[in-house]
Amino acid sequence: MLKIGAGAGAGLLLSELPAFALQQPLLMRSIPSSGEEIPAVGLGSARTFSVGPPNPQWVGLSDVLELFYEMGGRFFDTAPSYGTSERVAGQLLQELNIQNDFFFATKISTGGGLEAGLGQVEGSHRSWGRETIDLNQVHNLQDVDIHLRTIRQAKEEGRTRYVGVTTSFPRQYQQMEQVLRNEALDFVQLNYSLGERGAAERLIPLAQDLGIAVVVNEPYNVGRLFAVVGGRDLPDWAAEFDCQSWGQFFLKYILANPAVTVVIPATSDPEHLVDNMGAGVGRLPDERTRRDMEDLFDEFLA
Ligand SMILES: NC(=O)c1ccc[n+]([C@@H]2O[C@H](COP(=O)([O-])OP(=O)(O)OC[C@H]3O[C@@H](n4cnc5c(N)ncnc54)[C@H](OP(=O)(O)O)[C@@H]3O)[C@@H](O)[C@H]2O)c1
Repeated sequence: MLKIGAGAGAGLLLSELPAFALQQPLLMRSIPSSGEEIPAVGLGSARTFSVGPPNPQWVGLSDVLELFYEMGGRFFDTAPSYGTSERVAGQLLQELNIQNDFFFATKISTGGGLEAGLGQVEGSHRSWGRETIDLNQVHNLQDVDIHLRTIRQAKEEGRTRYVGVTTSFPRQYQQMEQVLRNEALDFVQLNYSLGERGAAERLIPLAQDLGIAVVVNEPYNVGRLFAVVGGRDLPDWAAEFDCQSWGQFFLKYILANPAVTVVIPATSDPEHLVDNMGAGVGRLPDERTRRDMEDLFDEFLA
């Protein structure tokens, strides 16, 4: 029997996972530009996979990847600028021999111009041992015109499947709006959470109108949301949308926005991974309940 989390000390057995984990399919969302369906809960990697040369921490990270895969997850977001994350994840996936089954989302992440960007693309292919990158994104709009040309060229050559752009900075929202209006894009990635709702005002509805898939980063506001709720109990009404934890409360709030294609919480902890995947199962809150979630969160902040 596959023992999950042995390296991290979590000791979860697959047979002990909540029933939803094995019996219920994960929520799927379709990519507007192609109609391809992808699981709506993905996995980020900004800091979590940036660990040194092979060491005991890698066992827990391998468990996270394997568990994510077993529970139906596919979308993995990384970048050449995330320390060693892209390489570590690529090596672990190749050891598990599941690297080709993942939806490989990475970035060109440099203000160093054309050659630096091309070098990163080659590095991404090497890191994952893959001929195809599913989604390549211009990171934080750095050298956006140059790198969009590079990614489009790669798409024409069949080495990249989808073109995207990212930000996590509200100060870039205006520029991002112009980019969405002026460029042909498959994906936009932006920060959105109960703690930072600004993207829902203009950018997310605009992406929906333009038929651009939305990837949500920093869904826990880089972990800060957990500090806001502290040790408080979930409200009873969270059960009405099959929510069993604060993590699921935060992710289901995001997934209930129909314009969101995939949310990418990052974790290095197999138990948190299981928790996060649970957000992609069962009912989602309706609009009225989403307002109640905002009010409750704002009360905690006050
Ligand atoms: N501009 C961009 O393109 C951009 C910017 C920011 C982020 N991103 C992408 O978005 C991903 C997500 O954002 P993020 O990593 O900054 O922050 P995040 O996903 O909002 O928060 C991650 C933090 O939450 C903790 N956590 C995860 N699941 C948990 C759970 N169920 N219960 C309690 N704690 C939990 C993690 O710690 P544990 O490891 O202990 O679980 C980690 O400290 C990034 O990794 C990256 O791939 C892209």
